[in-house]
Amino acid sequence: MQDWQRSVIYQIYPKSFHSHAGNPTGDLLGVVAKLDYLHWLGVDCLWITPFLRSPQRDNGYDISDYYAIDPSYGTMADCELLIAEAGKRGIKLMLDIVVNHTSIEHEWFQQARSSLDNPYRDFYIWRDQPNNWESKFGGSAWEYEAQTGQYFLHLFDHTQADLNWDNPNVRAEVFKMMRFWRDKGVGGFRLDVINLISKPADFPEDNSDGRRFYTDGPNVHDYLQQMHREVFEGHDLINVGEMSSTSLEHCIRYSRPQSKELSMTFNFHHLKVDYPNLQKWIRADFDFLQLKRILSDWQTGMQAGGGWNALFWCNHDQPRVVSRFGHDGEHRVVSAKMLGTALHFLQGTPFVYQGEELGMTNPSFDHIDQYRDVETLNIHRLQRNAGVSDADNMAAIMQKSRDNGRTPMHWNAEPNAGFSVAEPWISVPANAAQINVASQLDDPDSVLHHYRQLIALRRSEALMSDGVYRQLLPEHLQIWAYVREGNGERLLVLNNFYGTACEVELPEQVISPAMTQRLLISNYPDNPPRTRQVFLRPFESLVLHLTDH
Ligand code: GLC
Repeated sequence: MQDWQRSVIYQIYPKSFHSHAGNPTGDLLGVVAKLDYLHWLGVDCLWITPFLRSPQRDNGYDISDYYAIDPSYGTMADCELLIAEAGKRGIKLMLDIVVNHTSIEHEWFQQARSSLDNPYRDFYIWRDQPNNWESKFGGSAWEYEAQTGQYFLHLFDHTQADLNWDNPNVRAEVFKMMRFWRDKGVGGFRLDVINLISKPADFPEDNSDGRRFYTDGPNVHDYLQQMHREVFEGHDLINVGEMSSTSLEHCIRYSRPQSKELSMTFNFHHLKVDYPNLQKWIRADFDFLQLKRILSDWQTGMQAGGGWNALFWCNHDQPRVVSRFGHDGEHRVVSAKMLGTALHFLQGTPFVYQGEELGMTNPSFDHIDQYRDVETLNIHRLQRNAGVSDADNMAAIMQKSRDNGRTPMHWNAEPNAGFSVAEPWISVPANAAQINVASQLDDPDSVLHHYRQLIALRRSEALMSDGVYRQLLPEHLQIWAYVREGNGERLLVLNNFYGTACEVELPEQVISPAMTQRLLISNYPDNPPRTRQVFLRPFESLVLHLTDH
């Protein structure tokens, strides 16, 4: 077992984490200022979303210079200080690398667009005629460039041009840049939409949006193996790939050690359970049975194939989990703890997204002027043009917008939640005065202390990392029950996902009076010993360590 298989990683969205300089947006020195907090929480590694130079059209996922820090985040010296200070606390820093595309302001694109025979022309993907592929942010994936009379491909915004990975010079430049950061001392990489880098040469189309042709494309494994040889080999790095619309088979190949590609993979299938017929922009309840089934299939599938999951409920592209799969009203605290427990006992490496450890909620912004995200603003316009009513349009955006997860971190009850002395770039949710780090630090029953306990448990309970996953009661409509087992020991993990109490009967082989029983964690204060007949209160969750005799 590798170190990172026993680690917990914390994700920082620096724009909304903390502003040391007192600006509307956060900065790297703001992260440095909070390292003691992160150390107290117990995390091993920080994934910081992109802070390299960028016009910020997609908040840094549109990089214009891979070797420079964006001035809004500070300087290279600040970055070096952050790496060093994190290192002193035993915390690694994972850099977010965006190489499916660059900003159109990148020097390579500026060169490429200038003429058909520019040496950088072939760094990007050009066609005389577009095919029917769609951008993930809505509309066509092709943009016309009048100066040279061709279209370039952009799977995301039209200011994010896709790189041509089939060009060996592109790969050489990317690997050189990654070695630069590796040698600066970063502890690993998070690779943005990395399974989209290889497009089929003939750009086929059918009646879909095109994703089936470029997802996990023809040469992607070769390119990642080359990256491994040229950047990772012989270095102690944690590398996680963000995999869009991927498959279990591919994720096993990306993450099993013998492939020599990546350490682990993110996938999003479990976060589409509130997309009816895969339609994101419709307000809908989530499908609990599907959530359990998908997570369980990935647990058993990855374990059987020797792959490794990156586990997460939240990130900067997702709504807050307590508002999504829990209850952000009267049951907020108990349901946020339940969701934390349900995720942290799975096989894989858990990621905690800033504010998740407080049970931060969606902000309930009900006016489009309160939103900043390029995807949200694009979709709002497209839906309105398509005749969707304002009420339906806003209802979907309030539930699904990526800005739900991008509001400033709640540090304390001071103005702007202690994020900055300046008015933040996006509003602070109204409940920041109640939900914040300062108040939860003082409260041993807080969501924050529960997360700290979960993180510490991963260090002491080996079964959390290497126990075999088995789902119990797969058809139960309200309880997600599973075990992690090995060597005559097991962790029994019981989670009530709803606000009503319920009783279930467990198999005798799982829990019986002959077994020794030890409570590892729970979200209710009183915990009698349990029998096969388990009664679970609203959103109750508990984990028992059981030993056979
Ligand atoms: C990833 C990022 C997202 C970004 C997109 C394009 O999905 O997480 O924030 O918009 O890639 O780079």
